[in-house]
Amino acid sequence: MRRSLVLGNWKMNGTRASAETLAKGIIAGLGDDVAEIGICVPYVYLPEIGQIVKNTRLALGAQNVADKPSGAYTGEISAGMLKEFACHYALVGHSERRTYYGDTDQSVAARFCQAQEQGITPVLCIGETLEQRQQEQTFDVITAQLDAVVELAGIAAFSKSVIAYEPVWAIGTGLTATDEQAQEAHQFIRNYLAAKDQAVAEKIQILYGGSAKPDNAKGLFAMPDIDGGLIGGASLDAESFLKIYHSV
Ligand code: 13P
Repeated sequence: MRRSLVLGNWKMNGTRASAETLAKGIIAGLGDDVAEIGICVPYVYLPEIGQIVKNTRLALGAQNVADKPSGAYTGEISAGMLKEFACHYALVGHSERRTYYGDTDQSVAARFCQAQEQGITPVLCIGETLEQRQQEQTFDVITAQLDAVVELAGIAAFSKSVIAYEPVWAIGTGLTATDEQAQEAHQFIRNYLAAKDQAVAEKIQILYGGSAKPDNAKGLFAMPDIDGGLIGGASLDAESFLKIYHSV
């Protein structure tokens, strides 16, 4: 049986002080161990938040990782560096990275591999834009995004990863995929994996991301192929993040 996972993605928000308050607030309200939980924080806050989450069950994650192990890549942060700060997760291929910073299916696959080489769990973010959905290309887009990682990393690598389905049209817009729309995409992803390796497909956690909030989380998480959420805006408030966590 898969355990659920709720991950916060703080994106480029907060200050050093507010980050510390937020992390402490989440820890204070963790309560029953209903699922796995983590926060993906801005790089510069990793050392400090790492100390705060130490010996708690709130896991630490980064929002990206370099596609190379080291070298002359100004501005990049390697998986080895993240490992030094007890990073458990690294997002790869978030749509904001793909849209604004030119991350491609191939570079995302390389980032996925870099994370795994250091024992960091990559959270592979995939999903279609509104235009792609309207043109009924959703499954083609998801397939291409998954294919690139399977080609480079191999299907077995997915047993040590997480997938986040994030329809781009639902990110930060207040629009949420209906429970059924989300389930349809999650089932497609799981079937894609199952066709290559049944055990991997059954084990992997597939999270939903895209305007998940305290009032819609329960319905989404009740779907059979939705194993939790990757939460943006609502993860910036300890109370609403914890409400989502306690909806699993
Ligand atoms: P929102 O929850 O703000 O829509 O963001 C979703 C997301 O991009 C999480 O990675």
